[in-house]
Formats: sequence, C-alpha cells, structure tokens
Amino acid sequence: MTEPLTITVRPMREGDLDAVQAIDKAMVGPQRAATYANPVVAYGGEIEDSVVAEVRGQVVGFVLGRLAETQYGKRDAAWVELVGVHQDFQGQGVGRVLMKGFISECRRRGVRSIHIMVNWGDDRMKVFVSALGFNRGELVEYGLDLEEYQE
Ligand SMILES: CC(C)(COP(=O)(O)OP(=O)(O)OC[C@H]1O[C@@H](n2cnc3c(N)ncnc32)[C@H](O)[C@@H]1OP(=O)(O)O)[C@@H](O)C(=O)NCCC(=O)NCCS
Repeated sequence: MTEPLTITVRPMREGDLDAVQAIDKAMVGPQRAATYANPVVAYGGEIEDSVVAEVRGQVVGFVLGRLAETQYGKRDAAWVELVGVHQDFQGQGVGRVLMKGFISECRRRGVRSIHIMVNWGDDRMKVFVSALGFNRGELVEYGLDLEEYQE
C-alpha cells in the first residue's frame, strides 16, 4: 500500500504561476496545449484569492479563485475559476485537501457562498464538487456562436 501524502495548502504567490501553468497544460493535453502567457489573466481569478497545494515542497495542485461583490462593497461570494491537480498526484486526496483549504480561507474572509462552473459532460468534476458539498445552482450558460449568427 502506498503511504498517504502529506499535503500542505497555502496562499498562491506570483512565483507559483509557472507550476500552475504546467499543471494546466498537462490537464488540457498536448492536442489542445494552452498557449496563454499568464493563467491568471487567461482564466480570470486573483492571485491573492487563490491557493496551492504542496507535496514535499512541490506545487501539485491549485485553486484559482476570485472574490466577487454580491452586496454593495461586500466581497462575500467566491468563484473558483479553475482547479487542477498534477496528473501524477490525482486520486490521492490532493483535490479534496486543496478545496477544503480554499473553503476555510473563504470562510475566514467572510465569504458566504462559493461557486464553480462545471462542464455538464465532466462526470469526474461533478462527482468531485458534489463530494465536497456543492449543490447544483440556478445559473445556466447561454452562448452565441458568431460564426453561425446572421445579423
Ligand atoms: C478533479 C480533480 C481536481 C480532483 O482532484 P483529485 O486530487 O484527483 O481528487 P481527490 O483524490 O482529492 O478526490 C476527491 C473526491 O473527488 C472524487 N473523485 C476523484 N477522482 C475521481 C474519479 N477519477 N472519478 C470519480 N470521482 C473522483 C471522489 O468523490 C473523491 O472523494 P473520495 O476520495 O472520498 O473518493 C483532479 O482530478 C483534476 O485536476 N482534474 C482535472 C481538472 C479539470 O479538468 N479542471 C478544469 C475545470 S475547473
């Protein structure tokens, strides 16, 4: 049996962005290699509202988050713009510890609700967020394809 990992969650720093980008590139796969320069700019999110997970000093996962205002002047809703765990470390509890760390940090900062968009075809993400206590909300994405759209 493999030893359980010792996982540490800490706030994200500017110097973590290369590791975040490498994890994301591995997730999307070589066919769709992400070509952006900065994951925070590409996906939205704020470094100061985000966390990373470390195992033996290596960044192995991240939650790219963003706090938003729901009431005037109160940033009391959090959005998870992107969550990712390094492929070699998936299925070993990193994602759970990471999200719990993010949730605790949000609560400490007075956040009242946390939201995440999940692709309806992504069963793994759906099971993952449900396992963490998230319920399906009321928002549904509407899109307009301008390649098809006739003005
Ligand atoms: C989804 C993801 C974040 C989960 O992280 P992880 O470290 O692998 O997950 P954990 O080992 O902490 O598992 C937590 C829970 O998620 C669920 N889960 C994890 N892997 C799963 C799998 N392969 N199939 C189904 N459920 C799974 C389980 O409910 C699990 O709970 P359990 O440990 O009590 O069984 C990770 O697999 C990942 O980065 N996937 C790609 C993410 C992605 O596509 N992001 C873009 C959209 S934001």
